[in-house]
Amino acid sequence: MSRPVILTGDRTTGPLHIGHYAGSLKNRLALQDSHRQFLLLADTQALTDNADDIGKVRRNVLEVAFDYLAVGIDPAKTTICLQSHLPALAELSMLYLNFVTVARLERNPTIKDEIRARGFGRDIPAGFLCYPAAQAADITAFKATVVPVGEDQAPLIEQCNEIVRRINASAGREVLPEAQALIPEAGRLPGIDGRAKMSKSGGNAIALSAGPDEIRAAVRAMFTDPDHLRVEDPGRVEGNVVFTYLDAFDPDRDEVARLKDRYRRGGLGDSVVKRRLEELLQELLAPIRARRADYAADPGEVLRIVAEGTRAARELTDATKQEVMEALGLFRL
Ligand code: TRP
Repeated sequence: MSRPVILTGDRTTGPLHIGHYAGSLKNRLALQDSHRQFLLLADTQALTDNADDIGKVRRNVLEVAFDYLAVGIDPAKTTICLQSHLPALAELSMLYLNFVTVARLERNPTIKDEIRARGFGRDIPAGFLCYPAAQAADITAFKATVVPVGEDQAPLIEQCNEIVRRINASAGREVLPEAQALIPEAGRLPGIDGRAKMSKSGGNAIALSAGPDEIRAAVRAMFTDPDHLRVEDPGRVEGNVVFTYLDAFDPDRDEVARLKDRYRRGGLGDSVVKRRLEELLQELLAPIRARRADYAADPGEVLRIVAEGTRAARELTDATKQEVMEALGLFRL
């Protein structure tokens, strides 16, 4: 039996942070043995809202690759590949755009949210509006059936499957499989300031590459319960970032439950819980940071890993594109 295929990826707009780790990276690590996994360094998708800063997109290709390898993605098991060097993805994107309407793209909740968040209005880059079709091309070119992503990406997988059904209906047979989003149960990790989205540009993230002082400062600055002024006051655990992070990173569930209980009743200071969280994060990130520094010191080796992965991915995605064109009944030369 061949292993089920995973395709997922990240825009190369900045180094990854602990939100990525608690979100999809942990799933990707766990699945690389049982699945045939491909990770896409999504530089062309990054261009859809960063055409004014291509240098940033280029510089972060290797940064994201360092992050993958540092957390334990094993190139012997997982293929890391570069989107802009897989022409079949661009070609399939163009084909798929004929199977989706502008109205449907504009209705996609992920796109809608992002248009609002970035204040694009009608001045939205056309590539950005169309990126759900491009992401469908990414997923289907690998014939992936499992897509580990954060919950914000779920509507993109849904739209991908709609396109797949249209292609299959037009072809009269199942050329492409539908995919399933694999979303972490814990939900998305908020930023250290309590805002829903952790992001480097929002200044509320802890990067996987963060140093000890940075980690300490971030935990110190973390949003807790603004009404919890004195240790003996009862405190709120809901919406309290320190507890949300303990839920995500502390393996000792019973101790977290006890701490929450004490915090709610009063008598537990922020500094005590913060110290516990800081220790956990220091422990989690120290080996990642060390491995990352090793890779960053040898970018030639990482470049080789990405080039090799891209070559393998290119073969596979070219074959799928060929199959889709034939199944749709395009002219054959
Ligand atoms: N949209 C993803 C992000 O914002 C990146 C991505 C590109 C992706 N292509 C993909 C994710 C295909 C899953 C599957 O980071």
